[in-house]
Amino acid sequence: MPVSGNNPGPDEGFGVYIHWPFCASKCPYCDFNSHVWDSIDHRRWRTALLSELNHFALETSARTVTSVFFGGGTPSLMAPETAAALIDAVGNRWDTAGDLEITLEANPSTAEAGWFRAFRDAGVNRLSIGVQSFRDENLSFLGRGHSVAEARDALALAADVFPRFSFDLIHGLAGQSPEDWGRELDEALEYAKSLGAGHLSLYQLTIEPGTPFHRDGVEAAGGDEGARLYAITQEKLIEAGLPAYEISNHARPGSECRHNLQIWRGGAYAGVGPGAHGRLPAPRRTEALYQIHDPGRWLAAVESKGHGTAKRRALPRRARAEELLMTGLRLIEGVGWARFQSLTGRGIEDLIDGDGLKRMTGGGFVEADDRGLRATASGWLCLNEVLRHLLAS
Ligand SMILES: C[S@@+](CC[C@H](N)C(=O)[O-])C[C@H]1O[C@@H](n2cnc3c(N)ncnc32)[C@H](O)[C@@H]1O
Ligand code: SF4
Repeated sequence: MPVSGNNPGPDEGFGVYIHWPFCASKCPYCDFNSHVWDSIDHRRWRTALLSELNHFALETSARTVTSVFFGGGTPSLMAPETAAALIDAVGNRWDTAGDLEITLEANPSTAEAGWFRAFRDAGVNRLSIGVQSFRDENLSFLGRGHSVAEARDALALAADVFPRFSFDLIHGLAGQSPEDWGRELDEALEYAKSLGAGHLSLYQLTIEPGTPFHRDGVEAAGGDEGARLYAITQEKLIEAGLPAYEISNHARPGSECRHNLQIWRGGAYAGVGPGAHGRLPAPRRTEALYQIHDPGRWLAAVESKGHGTAKRRALPRRARAEELLMTGLRLIEGVGWARFQSLTGRGIEDLIDGDGLKRMTGGGFVEADDRGLRATASGWLCLNEVLRHLLAS
């Protein structure tokens, strides 16, 4: 049943996120909603993902889809026919932007020319590859099932097959010296340049509760060490013409991931698949949707009622303001006053702590001007603390 209040603003995009929750093996640092199943009934999963996509199309079809993102898990393990059917369904159920961005996350172990071309023919026009490291010893420490040579081949294939591609690296492994990371990053950047990569995601290793790394007491680089690795990363990426546009994401200007930008700016998106979430903003209120996390339970729910939504609620204004600040301050562009007002119905000054803001601007952690509020480079290094001060009241 169509829900009123989800009509788009004139300049708003709409993202469709589709979660594929399976991987060939589980990496010991990863707490994503990813699972290793002995066998997957691809036809059944295709039908279920299509059902839930159609369910969301019913209430959001007035919007124009600007991006589709297949995330995971490892969606490059999805049958390309599944991606094709979902992309066709998006085109049939919504208007789509002329420059519709369709990203698929891939693991280098799944890089095979015919398979990649099948995804491209399905409509995928941007590949994001989890390389993680340009050092074989780090890949084996991270429990990855591929070598550096295989990752390089996957990147070359991606550059050949897809108009746009990106890759992920992880830094901040315990004992990783700034010199080691600097050399590894130089090699990665040289290779990226030779292939014309326009986008890189550079994550600091985090030890997540519940993961084997956490259970085994594995440590990541500590505060000062981590900050040095982060500073080197920023310097080298600026030199390479790929400055940060988000705390962990770097792009040649114009090559930013449009889907993630849409989310970080507080825009509208639907989340399809186990554990996916969505945001449906309307004037003065935003609905948050959460799909059932467990893949088996999600599948059963979709097969019985057409969707696997576990929870749907209008976000209280303060919670919405907090998330806009949390994601907006991760962006180099920051949070615009006018946009904040239009998404929350209130001025930012009503929702953030005036004394906290003074302390954070005085300390050089944030900058405010007539357009909005931005974190500085030192603010990015302790963003959680900055947010705590801004949201103190
Ligand atoms: C869904 S995976 C990418 C695609 C594919 N599953 C793979 O790993 O090749 C998303 C990315 O999140 C990053 N990531 C996951 N857990 C992390 C952690 N604990 N610390 C830092 N980065 C992490 C990795 O760089 C990974 O490539
Ligand atoms: S990092 Fe990627 S491949 Fe490894 S378990 Fe997580 S989602 Fe799967």
